[in-house]
Amino acid sequence: MTKSKGGSVDARTLVAHVLAASAVVLVLLWCIHFRGGLALRSQDKPLIFNVHPVLMVLGPIVLGGEAILSYRSLPLARDARKKVHLALHAAGLAAGVLGVYAVFKFHVESGIPNLYSLHSWVGIAAITLYGLQWTAGFLAYFFPGASPATRRRTLPWHAVFGLLVFVLAVGTAQLGFLEKLTFMQGPPLRLPKYGAEALLVNFTSVTVLLLGVAVVLAIVDIDGTRYNTII
Ligand code: HEM
Ligand code: HEM
Repeated sequence: MTKSKGGSVDARTLVAHVLAASAVVLVLLWCIHFRGGLALRSQDKPLIFNVHPVLMVLGPIVLGGEAILSYRSLPLARDARKKVHLALHAAGLAAGVLGVYAVFKFHVESGIPNLYSLHSWVGIAAITLYGLQWTAGFLAYFFPGASPATRRRTLPWHAVFGLLVFVLAVGTAQLGFLEKLTFMQGPPLRLPKYGAEALLVNFTSVTVLLLGVAVVLAIVDIDGTRYNTII
């Protein structure tokens, strides 16, 4: 397995960057061109909903994915890469929290009940675990920082849990796209099943799924040597 450590960008990382950029473009195209745009405050309530998919894809998935890749993909010193990892995850978390706030706001202002779906339950778990992972990572590896022995012991767990949380966010997004498209295919919209918008939503979801696969493949420790060299 080829490795790039903070200098060269390998093919898998490059594929992940391209998929990340594509996911953002596709979700924006859908929510702005087909769904009428984004607003946190509006009389047109669906515009408030539209903030949700955009920020959930941009936050825990795209910024979170880039944060995970950042230790390997950036030509910076280790300390700088750690700060980039931390900051990108902070931005991903902030966008995710705002995105969840937007969908609750949309539900409350439209008289729709909260937390009735599988997507919403898995979603609450995903955003909560993402917040806990960030806090644990900050305390252990940044400030105040655990002892070197504890860091060494916990880092593989941090990486595995971090990857699981990321995968959970990707899975949550799959449920979200499916649920929204199913709503739109029913009354009153009755979106055509093979129409342009339905295809766009499904392609956006596939792109997010492939991004998840690319990030996992880009960082997975196939030859088992990585953690001997990073502490
Ligand atoms: C990491 C990604 C995501 C998380 C953590 C997440 C989380 C949530 C949560 C917690 C709710 C419940 C809100 C409430 O009960 O008031 C919700 C609702 C919703 N989300 Fe997401 N979401 C994510 C991505 C997406 C995406 C990409 C879509 C695509 C359109 C989407 C579509 C929906 C829809 C249609 C609802 C309203 C129906 C329901 O409550 O299930 N979500 N989401
Ligand atoms: C939700 C937040 C976070 C997630 C999902 C996450 C996830 C990950 C993942 C998957 C890795 C493995 C990367 C690789 O093998 O190349 C990793 C490495 C690491 N993370 Fe985090 N992380 C988060 C927050 C933080 C924070 C706040 C810190 C504090 C500085 C931190 C410090 C580290 C360190 C020191 C490594 C080892 C880097 C290396 O592989 O050389 N993480 N993180």
